[in-house]
Amino acid sequence: WPFFADDIAAIERLKRQRNAIVLAHNYQTPEIFHGVADIVGDSLALAREAVRVEADVIVLAGVHFMAETAKLLNPGRTVLIPDAAAGCSLAASITGADVRLLRERYPGVPVVAYVNTSAEVKAEADICCTSGNAVKIVESLGVPRVIMLPDQYLAKNVAAETKVEIIAWAGQCEVHERFTAADIATLRQSHPGVVVLAHPECPREVVEAADFAGSTAAMVGYVGTRRPARVAMVTECSMADNVSVDYPDIEFVRPCNLCPHMKRITLAKIRRALETMAPEVTIPEDLADRARRSVERMIEIG
Ligand code: 13P
Ligand code: SF4
Repeated sequence: WPFFADDIAAIERLKRQRNAIVLAHNYQTPEIFHGVADIVGDSLALAREAVRVEADVIVLAGVHFMAETAKLLNPGRTVLIPDAAAGCSLAASITGADVRLLRERYPGVPVVAYVNTSAEVKAEADICCTSGNAVKIVESLGVPRVIMLPDQYLAKNVAAETKVEIIAWAGQCEVHERFTAADIATLRQSHPGVVVLAHPECPREVVEAADFAGSTAAMVGYVGTRRPARVAMVTECSMADNVSVDYPDIEFVRPCNLCPHMKRITLAKIRRALETMAPEVTIPEDLADRARRSVERMIEIG
């Protein structure tokens, strides 16, 4: 990465000085993902790895809710997010007060909160889930009905795989909601034989038209084990950029939509965060205790 060599060398030096590690989501750009990340993965993997971290400082190269999750699981460590404005349309679609109203409306029905939520929302939930374990979490509760928030498309996609009745919220991911079944048809027409992998935040019709649906880590796993000759990852743009580096023999067709929040994170901002030890993620203790319970319950189950 000659163009980024200066920032990468500085970040590596700062990581040693600060005893810091960089956790990066699969949607980070390749110079972050392949250049400076110590651990990469989907939301579930990042949450799991955050528990095992021994470094004093965690730099979360991802969006704000991911950094909050890392802080919840590591209250004693410093967690930095290189740009505090890196949000998420799903996390922004619901508040803690909304969850309390849902509970009044559906008394006794457990609340499953997607990790793409604020700590305030996690604190009001019974348990969290990610796209990688949503069906398992919903079924683990052993009840006929659950409230699943905030992603209406993930909720529909989970509902199609379980007998548990799902009460959904009306949130959506601004990246994945833009894909359509017509996009998939066009892909298949212009790239015969292409294997289509879709993220479960896509509308139901897109998931139905795909060959496989799964979390970002599940998509990486599919490519690694099934080795399709031609593949399309119907998700954020950096996914194919990152995965294709490891599979030069596979043709990656690249339909994609950019996540403007993920793209706020840059090498320069990671460097600056380590230089200044800011912006730091902090969560009030009583809120953190309640939110942590929801995340830990999820990790115990899977
Ligand atoms: P994953 O958990 O599949 O990585 O998804 C996170 C996300 O933000 C998808 O838009
Ligand atoms: Fe949120 Fe969608 Fe961006 Fe993921 S891709 S961080 S769900 S807006």
